[in-house]
Amino acid sequence: YVVNWDVEAAEKGGYDHFMLKEIYEQPKAIRDTLSPRVNNENEIRLDDISITKEELDRINRVYIIACGTAYHAGLLGKILIEKYVNVPVIADVASEFRYGNTFIDENTLMIVVSQSGETADTLAALRLAKEKGARVIAVTNVVGSTISREADDVFYTWAGPEIAVASTKAYTTQLVSLALIAMQMATIKGTITEEDYSGILNGLNKLSKQVKSLLEKEDLVKEAAKEIYNAEHIFYIGRGIDYDVAREGALKLKEISYIHCEAMPAGELKHGTIALIEEGTPVIAVATQEHLYEKMVSNIKEVKARGAYVIALAKEGNEDIEETADSVIYIPEVIDELTSVLNVIPLQLLAYYVAVMRGCDVDKPRNLAKSVTVE
Ligand code: G6P
Repeated sequence: YVVNWDVEAAEKGGYDHFMLKEIYEQPKAIRDTLSPRVNNENEIRLDDISITKEELDRINRVYIIACGTAYHAGLLGKILIEKYVNVPVIADVASEFRYGNTFIDENTLMIVVSQSGETADTLAALRLAKEKGARVIAVTNVVGSTISREADDVFYTWAGPEIAVASTKAYTTQLVSLALIAMQMATIKGTITEEDYSGILNGLNKLSKQVKSLLEKEDLVKEAAKEIYNAEHIFYIGRGIDYDVAREGALKLKEISYIHCEAMPAGELKHGTIALIEEGTPVIAVATQEHLYEKMVSNIKEVKARGAYVIALAKEGNEDIEETADSVIYIPEVIDELTSVLNVIPLQLLAYYVAVMRGCDVDKPRNLAKSVTVE
C-alpha cells in the first residue's frame, strides 16, 4: 500500500482535506448544474428528460428512492413535486423500500438519486421498478455508472468528482437538480403559475453567489465549532424543509466526528427527545421557513429552558432570534423552497471543523465507504 502524498496534496488544491475543497467547490458545482439547463430567455430546458405530457398525465404516483445524503436531497424533491406537479410522492431509503410493500405499475414514476450511481440498494430499487413497468429517472453524478445506464432518463448533477466520503457538493447539486426536474414536470403538466415558476428560477440563479457569500462566514462557524466539539450528543431541530436539512447536518457531523447526532422535527421534541436536553447540550436549530418561524422560536425557548446551548440558522431580517439563541448564523434572502442549499453550507463547515478539532480522519471516516456496492 503506497501513497504518493505529493500527488494527493496536489489534488487537494491547497486545502487540508478533500471535504473542505469540495465544500468550496459548491458555487461552481451549482453553476455547472444550472447553466446547461437554463437558456438565455431564462427558461428551464431539460434535454436530459424526455417524458411527454401524455406520459406525465398518466403518472399517479412518484417514488423518490436513495440512500444517505442522496435520500436527504430526495426529501426536497418530494415537497416540490407534490406542491407544483400535484401528484403524491413517496420518498424512502432504498434498503427499506425494496423489502416493503410497493405500489408500482406503468403509471408510476421513480426518481432514484445516487452520487456514485453504484449503490447496491438504490440499483435494486431501480430494477424492481423497471420490472414492474415504471419509468425511471436517475439523478447521478457519475457518467456511465450502472444506474445511469439502466434508467430511462439520466439527469447528471455535474458536480465533478467527489472524493471525500462525506458528501457535500453532490447534495447541493442534487437539490438543484430535483428543483429543475420538478419545475420541468410542472411546466409540461401546466400545474405551476408563472409567478411560482419565475420565483424559483430567480432563486436558483442566485444560489451560487449566495453560497459563496456564506463560505465567507467560515470563521463564525469555526467559533461555533469550538463551543460544541467536546459534546457527546448533539441535537438538530427544524420544521418542514428545515427538518430535512437538519437531518443532513446531523449525518454530516456524526459520520466524520463520531459524536452522536440526532435530528428531530422540532414539534416532536416534547414527545421524548427533550428528556435528553441538559445543561450545555448543543442544539442546532434551523429556523428559516417563514411560516414556521414563530413555532421554531418557541421550540428554541423550550430547549433553552432546559439548559441547551443553541446555535441557530436564521434568515437575515429575523435578528430577534438573538434574544433566544446563543449564537446565530444568518443565511441571505431566499425563497423557502431553496433554503436547504444555503443552510447546509454552515452545517457542512460545522461538521468539518468539529471533526478537525477532534483530530478525526475527515476524508476517510472509520467504517464508512464512499460507495456502498454491497447490500
Ligand atoms: C455512502 C456514502 C454517503 C452517500 C451514500 C449514498 O453511505 O458514504 O455519502 O450519501 O452512500 O451514495 P450514493 O452514491 O448512492 O449517492
